[in-house]
Amino acid sequence: MGNRAGRAGAAAKITQESSEGASRRKTNAEYSDLLSKLQDIPTLPVVAMKVTELINDPASSSADIAKLLKRDQVLTAKILRLANSSYYAIPGGCVDVQRALAFLGFNTLAQLVLGLSVFSLFSTIDGEEFSMLEFWKHALGTAVCSEILAKRLGLVKPEEAFTCGLLHDIGKLVLHEIDRERLSEIVKETKNRKCSFVEVERERELPGHSYLGDVIATKWGLPQVIRLAIRYHHFDVRGMDSILASAKPLIYIVRLANTLCLKNDIGKSGDYSGGIVTEDMLEPLKLTRDKIPEIEAKLAEEMQKAGGFFDAWR
Ligand SMILES: [Fe+2]
Ligand SMILES: [Fe+2]
Repeated sequence: MGNRAGRAGAAAKITQESSEGASRRKTNAEYSDLLSKLQDIPTLPVVAMKVTELINDPASSSADIAKLLKRDQVLTAKILRLANSSYYAIPGGCVDVQRALAFLGFNTLAQLVLGLSVFSLFSTIDGEEFSMLEFWKHALGTAVCSEILAKRLGLVKPEEAFTCGLLHDIGKLVLHEIDRERLSEIVKETKNRKCSFVEVERERELPGHSYLGDVIATKWGLPQVIRLAIRYHHFDVRGMDSILASAKPLIYIVRLANTLCLKNDIGKSGDYSGGIVTEDMLEPLKLTRDKIPEIEAKLAEEMQKAGGFFDAWR
């Protein structure tokens, strides 16, 4: 990715700033500098772009996705590995996309292709305070928990909930690409203060990871519901009339799933708030607090089966 000199300059500026004990407040120039670096993020791979079109097109069929996967052998191999993992437990396993499709169905396969393609764009190199494997665990945990909630509540398609959960914190990966030093500064602080990532972002008046994620998801043309889940996964959106009512259940689900992963220490996303489940997370899903242990037990059980995903993210 280009603009490395510019990035190094910006990073040096930040180090200098903190060493001088200068105000942490970022000027408008720094804010727009960060946003301008978003141009460094590559475009979505063709396969992922096409699969997004297929997801958005009600007339698309399983044959379309099988044709598409033929063009990407690496991705096909990953999909088959996942299909053969204990998470999906296909009887007798499967050696080709047709069989995976027959068992998983068009939607699950399409959402998997999209999720894996997005992750393939980002570096797998750890940052100073940011382990990519731990981040992946957090993303996967949130995906699995979102799917559990979706199945249990019957409000949204489980496979769609899975992808929204998987991609909800994509803005942190964006920050990892464009300004690694800034990300590690934030994480250092959340760790020390045992607070949330969002809290530090807000104090520093930085563009939030949910905003960065939304900008990039919009650039990539991801389905609207995924963009909204990325943008609002830290918000109580009940009273927000500007948000599509049909997208709200997915946002509620991803918000709760994220919090449950923090609470249960599933992976690490740079948030050290400990995951506090508040009433406004439960009420819109018509869940009561006494149901949480059951959901957490199911999450632990499903995460045991999700081992296959750890090979797939690289
Ligand atoms: Fe987040
Ligand atoms: Fe998260």
